[in-house]
Amino acid sequence: MSTSRKPFVGGNWKMNLHGSEVAELANGLTALPLDASKVDVAVFPAFPYLAQVAAVLKSTPIKVGAQNFYSQANGAFTGEVSLSMLKDIGCEVVLVGHSERRHVLGETDEMINAKVLAALDAGFEVILCVGEKIEQREAGKTHQINMAQLEYGLAGVNADQMARITIAYEPVWAIGTGKTATPEDAQEAHDRIRRCLNFGFDWGEDIGNAVRIQYGGSMKPSNAVDLLSQTDIDGGLIGGASLKASDFMAIVHAAEQSQA
Ligand code: 13P
Repeated sequence: MSTSRKPFVGGNWKMNLHGSEVAELANGLTALPLDASKVDVAVFPAFPYLAQVAAVLKSTPIKVGAQNFYSQANGAFTGEVSLSMLKDIGCEVVLVGHSERRHVLGETDEMINAKVLAALDAGFEVILCVGEKIEQREAGKTHQINMAQLEYGLAGVNADQMARITIAYEPVWAIGTGKTATPEDAQEAHDRIRRCLNFGFDWGEDIGNAVRIQYGGSMKPSNAVDLLSQTDIDGGLIGGASLKASDFMAIVHAAEQSQA
């Protein structure tokens, strides 16, 4: 990664783990050394455990984030959770546009953009996920899909707010499959995303160059060093490997080292 951007590693626990497993993982994270001057870390537990994990990690530099929320402030939205509720229990970061929400739960670009804007307005950090499906990759549309998801997702975001945006490039075919993009392929996609951030919006290159771009999709301790050594890979968004404290922290340490 570039030495000018501090790496950022997120652990997306998705719809996994129950009571005692959650406690074990959160406690495991508190026990491991972490140099907060060299890496930012956040974990995203499922809603029922958010407050519990936030309480356990309060004494650490690890932030707690939400996998989802609704863009409206309050009201008759059965089953939804607002940003102010998340703030109440100590959340500082949110995921938006994850491929499972786009392709399994049917979130549209319009909904994703509304969420990005609402979260920024409420003072949250946002990880905006983008990435192509296998058929789009095979049709040579990887970059076109990523650009479109960026342009829709970031519409209306201003230069100041970009300091609270991280992009996660997560090729859908690599998520949970054990198939990782090669470091070179991932770097190429990250480079194109960087160029879109630099030249596709009004805010200019300095802002685009400061944005962190995480890689997500079967990142694990055995491939993290090679991925994180790429110029435009500034961290990772980790699913499966974030469910084991030692594996997650091995990736966090690889990110710390990538700055050296
Ligand atoms: P895996 O690491 O399990 O492939 O998941 C990646 C991901 O979707 C993180 O958001």
